[in-house]
Formats: sequence, C-alpha cells, structure tokens
Amino acid sequence: MRLRDFAERLLHATTLEQKLMPPEGGYAALTDHDPGEPRAWSAPGRPPELEIAPRRHRFKFPHPDNLAEPEMAVRALHTFANHELMAIELMAWALLAYPEAPASFRAGMVRLIADEQCHLKLYADRIAELGARFGDLPVNDHFWRCAPSLTSPLKWVCAMNLTFEQGNLDHAPYFEEQFRRVGDLKTAQILEKIFEDEIHHVGFGASWLRQNTPQGQSSFEIYCQNLTFHNEPARARGANFNPEARRRAGLDEDFVAGMRRAT
Ligand SMILES: [Fe+2]
Ligand SMILES: [Fe+2]
Repeated sequence: MRLRDFAERLLHATTLEQKLMPPEGGYAALTDHDPGEPRAWSAPGRPPELEIAPRRHRFKFPHPDNLAEPEMAVRALHTFANHELMAIELMAWALLAYPEAPASFRAGMVRLIADEQCHLKLYADRIAELGARFGDLPVNDHFWRCAPSLTSPLKWVCAMNLTFEQGNLDHAPYFEEQFRRVGDLKTAQILEKIFEDEIHHVGFGASWLRQNTPQGQSSFEIYCQNLTFHNEPARARGANFNPEARRRAGLDEDFVAGMRRAT
C-alpha cells in the first residue's frame, strides 16, 4: 500500500475502525516512491458521533478525587482518546502536507501513527469496559486549530511533538498517579504505557529540532521561533514539571531550562 493512500484513508475515514486500521500488508510494507503534491489542511472525516461539537455542548473535566466514579473516569478517558484521534489525523495530514520531507521523517511519522492508533484503541476499549462508548461525549478540535499555520515540518514538530506531546510528559504521570490513588489500576497502567511511548514521540521532535538548529544557536530559541497560532512554551508543560522525561527524550539542558522557566 502507498503511504499517501494510507494517510488519505486515516484522514478521511468515517468510522473508528478505519481510523484504527493498519495499512494492508502491514506498516513495514508501505511504499513511498510517489508521495504526491503538498496538501493544504482540510477538516478530517469523522463518524457522526465524533463530529466537532459547538463550545456550549462541552463537558467539565472531572476533579481527580472523583475519578473512581465510572462516569467521571469516562470523561477523562474521552478527553484523552480525543487527543489520540487528533494526533492520528494531524500525523496523517503531515504525510500529505510534506511530501518532500526526508524519508527518515516520513518513516518516523508512520511509527508514531502506529503508536497513536494503539493508544486510541486502549482508551476506547477502557471506555467500553466502563460502560460507555468513545463518541458518547462531545469532542473539541483543540489540536487541529493550529494546523493551517504549520507550513513546514519544523513548525509541525514544534506544535505536535514539542508542545502537545511534551505537555503529556507531565500530564500522563500526573493522571497515572491520580487513577492509582483512587484504585483504578487498569487505567493507571494504560497511562504508564502511553507515557513511555510519548518519550519517543517527543524524541522524534527533539531529533528534528536538533537537525534544524544551526551550530552555536539555542534549540529552545529555534523552538520558540517556530511556534505558531496560540502555542507557547507554557502549553508544553504541566504543573508537575518532569525534567528527567525531557532528558530521556533527548532534549538538551538549555531546552529543559527554558521549559522550566515557562509559566
Ligand atoms: Fe498517544
Ligand atoms: Fe504521542
């Protein structure tokens, strides 16, 4: 299967099954001889229950003390699952938007997509175990809204890997602890796995940022210069700042120090 056809299918799929489907023949058999013309952003296909909801229909994120209640756990998991779905779509779009990106960038993106599909399935299955369905609650378009401003692979990794996913290096361990505290070990284990994968995803962005940082310049400054829309370093961290996870992702000390100062 061609990489671009796989990306098209993910972006335009109108069922959750298709959003989760691996390419025919497997990820390793994807071919990329014919990446096509660069594609502008357009809203992805969605099943009807996962159409973007107007703001007034959105729900309140639960207080961590209430996560033992299945309804409240579902609210949190629904929010996380939506982030995974938007990540899959933004990654599929990156393959269509940057046909001229190096083979290593495009192959790396396929590995990220495979992980995000696995994460989405873990959350959707856990929501089902708790008696609900992914799509029962309204979803927002938080990640997508910056997509039209991501005019280069560097801007893309600064938004996706180095802002949304970097933030998860703090948020995922926090929620893992909160679910563990209320006795929901199954959800805690899912968050633990996703945290480990997220280190690699931030690492993908860190490596691309490093390649695009001129000798003698600060990678943190290049990151700040390539943030678009309403993204800023403060959105790339949580209250419980985790410097070690950032080092494991390959971010340098100057970058970690810049992030520590960002509030
Ligand atoms: Fe993920
Ligand atoms: Fe990720």
